[in-house]
Amino acid sequence: MNEVEPALERAKALIAGAPTSAALRAVEAEAFGKRSELSAITGTLGDLAPDERRRLGRALQEARAELEQLSDQRHAELAAEEARRQARTERLDLSETVGLFGAGHGPMAERLGQPVARGHIHLVTQVRDELEDIFVSMGFEVAEGPEVEDDWHNFEALNMPPHHPARGMFDTFYLKAGQPESVLLRTHTSPVQVRLMESRPPPIYAVVPGRCYRRDTPDARHLPVFHQVEALVVDEGISMGDLAGVLESFTSAFFGPGRHARLRPSFFPFTEPSAEFDVTCWVCGGAGCRTCSGSGWVELGGCGMVDPAVFEAVGIDAERYTGFAWGFGIDRLAAARTGLADLRDLLDNDIRFLSQF
Ligand code: DAH
Repeated sequence: MNEVEPALERAKALIAGAPTSAALRAVEAEAFGKRSELSAITGTLGDLAPDERRRLGRALQEARAELEQLSDQRHAELAAEEARRQARTERLDLSETVGLFGAGHGPMAERLGQPVARGHIHLVTQVRDELEDIFVSMGFEVAEGPEVEDDWHNFEALNMPPHHPARGMFDTFYLKAGQPESVLLRTHTSPVQVRLMESRPPPIYAVVPGRCYRRDTPDARHLPVFHQVEALVVDEGISMGDLAGVLESFTSAFFGPGRHARLRPSFFPFTEPSAEFDVTCWVCGGAGCRTCSGSGWVELGGCGMVDPAVFEAVGIDAERYTGFAWGFGIDRLAAARTGLADLRDLLDNDIRFLSQF
């Protein structure tokens, strides 16, 4: 027994009692560093006889080495404990998610005996599914096309040759493939009209939902990635009256009775005549409000009779066949349905938002 031992015991207690890594770092100086009792004893060595000095010096060195080792061990324990605590906190976050969705019981959950979070279909997909149901019930088929398109399908066959001014409103993202500026992310679902007509002879009664891209800065009403649903009908004897009738049936099926569609003259290179298609304002029901700028109508998309130049591009006899087409945005419909003020919410993937629908 020497004067080092009690100091060593007190220092060990300091290390063992540190509750966190930060606390441990703070007591190290007191346990075996500059401010420690060991350090104070070291200061007295000069006054001792050589033998005694050697004996005490060795004891001090051993004590310091032991304390350093204990401190390293304690650091490792505390780090593991802190990692476990963090994992527990993160698990709590997950259980909040379970709470939002309601717990489901998939095969994995059954095996683990735990509830799991079960997601649901995104709002835009729900609206897309509903649109498909409406049009399938009217006798349309559902078709799809590629999101990466070539210049021919996205522009040229739709009566927009290179340098056509209408290309200006369809600025998009080009891929490094083929000739420069020949492969792009489609700016609308209209190229699928071309693909359908190239692939088989009329009659064609198809709707085409899908994702589209434009070089737009996102704001409350525009997204650079958005969704459209296109329609194409080609048969003998199709008139603009058929177009108006189908749009009217769709409007009351989707928005409910008392909601109507109207056509307003417009221009698209791929239809002649062309029209803008409006529906009764979903906020005020036609009385006039801020959403419809007091007019009682909200613009939904473009439509018209397929231009003979498009028939010519795909080799359909424009003397024998006529047809109509339209394209409108699905995201805006989803916003209309839910009173959503900012389309960007659809892309943010915030569970608090998504779980409401
Ligand atoms: N593709 C057009 C757009 O994205 C919308 C459109 C207008 C589609 C007229 C059509 C149509 O099929 O006939 O702005």
